[in-house]
Amino acid sequence: MRVTVIGTGYVGTVTGACLAYLGHRVTCVDTDQSKIARLQRGESPIYEPYLNELIALAATRGGIDFSVSLEPAATESEVIFIAVGTPPLPSGEANLTYLEAAARAIGSAMDPSHFRVVVNKSTVPVGSGNLVEALVRDGIMESRPQQRHAIKFGVASNPEFLREGCAISDSLYPDRIVVGAADERTLATMRELYLPLVTQAFESPAGVPRPAGQGIVSLLATSLTSAEMIKYSANAFLALKIGFANEMANICERVGAEATAVMAGIGLDTRIGSRFLNPGVGWGGSCFGKDIHALLHTAHEYGYDSKLLRASIEVNAAQRLMVIQKLQEKLFILKGRTIGLLGLAFKPDTDDIRDAPSLHIAERLLQMDARVKAYDPVAIEACRQQRPDLKIRLCDSPEELAEDCDALVVVTEWQQFRTLDLVRLGSLMHTRILVDGRNLFLPEEALAAGFDYTGIGRSSRPRAAGANGPAGAAAAAETER
Ligand SMILES: NC(=O)c1ccc[n+]([C@@H]2O[C@H](COP(=O)([O-])OP(=O)(O)OC[C@H]3O[C@@H](n4cnc5c(N)ncnc54)[C@H](O)[C@@H]3O)[C@@H](O)[C@H]2O)c1
Repeated sequence: MRVTVIGTGYVGTVTGACLAYLGHRVTCVDTDQSKIARLQRGESPIYEPYLNELIALAATRGGIDFSVSLEPAATESEVIFIAVGTPPLPSGEANLTYLEAAARAIGSAMDPSHFRVVVNKSTVPVGSGNLVEALVRDGIMESRPQQRHAIKFGVASNPEFLREGCAISDSLYPDRIVVGAADERTLATMRELYLPLVTQAFESPAGVPRPAGQGIVSLLATSLTSAEMIKYSANAFLALKIGFANEMANICERVGAEATAVMAGIGLDTRIGSRFLNPGVGWGGSCFGKDIHALLHTAHEYGYDSKLLRASIEVNAAQRLMVIQKLQEKLFILKGRTIGLLGLAFKPDTDDIRDAPSLHIAERLLQMDARVKAYDPVAIEACRQQRPDLKIRLCDSPEELAEDCDALVVVTEWQQFRTLDLVRLGSLMHTRILVDGRNLFLPEEALAAGFDYTGIGRSSRPRAAGANGPAGAAAAAETER
């Protein structure tokens, strides 16, 4: 099918590349000329594993190109995706300016030659499908008022569930596809578009193998409103799940239990499931906070106050600062101390620092007159560009980070941090304190490297003789020192 994708961010670029890989002819459009210029040179403007390779492969299959103009691609297309940003306004409401501009521009590009489906992939407040339809009509009225009755289109809501860092795998092998549509013709077009994904009738790209056991993908057809609500509920639930793990970890720490073992114990219950139960410095990124605030806002508009959602935001904000409390326990005074942050990205395998816990932690440390250094394998440039106001020293290597630090804090669980030479890093530091905000290291290995180690939800109290498990080992080693 002929497809246009508007917005070449994390969602749009991945969606466009995957659809072209599946055999559709795709044009990706963005108003940001520098992003389009990079994509035209074959470089993705975002860091996402295997994306550059997939774009190159996609060009040899359905075909993909990049443009700053919506026409003629949108005019030729049967399916036009909107994948623009919907960032939060200070009130918590979603900013729909970009969505509105895109919908109007789509209307202006339409002619009566064929039926089109306008698909909203951006996360938008409940009810936005109707808004998109109205704005597309406005666009048609502006450009072709006489043909307005002859121009046929449908609107679909197709929420995106990809995770940055494994976005291509999530897009090619999704758990489910949700399509909200008001009419059968629109739904049929979407079913045709996604047929290769549903049946999984395509050869996997070399770098993104099909997960073992991956079968046919369910396509859930709903109303527009339910599809919009599914996206918000899914993110709210995942954020709550992480928040719950962190709350339990905080209690575990106090009673001398090992949070990782406790979470493993509850995660084996199939009603709960093991994912999203890792205690740490809390969730971040461009979606959870924004979407929960937007959902709270919608609920308020309808006279409902969701206490659970509010608590989820509060628990997470406090959890981010838990590492500062742990630094205070170890160093007492933070003023004038040098703290090194291992990781800036809100999670591994991405350069995305939007609403990253690292920034929140750095801001608070700076307020406390500590000096802050940071190292990240890919997000240093994003931090330099997006947060020039943040007076932290960005380092090019873990060694440069460790030099003269009073403590290191693991903020992002990059796999490459697992293999860091802790003995070498410790030798460069002023004092060997490691606050592991992601439980990335085994306490015993950090202790063996001479670190005073604290994780999240890991007991630091001496355990009774015979206590076993990682927490027991850590506690025993700490007692010995
Ligand atoms: N990033 C994620 O992991 C993720 C996951 C699921 C859903 N979402 C949702 O998907 C949407 C897009 O997110 P993202 O992270 O890809 O955003 P992004 O900010 O990375 O990219 C958005 C792009 O849209 C472009 N744009 C804005 N207005 C435009 C217009 N009128 N015409 C053409 N291009 C325009 C911007 O220049 C930008 O390149 C958001 O609503 C987000 O909530 C994101």
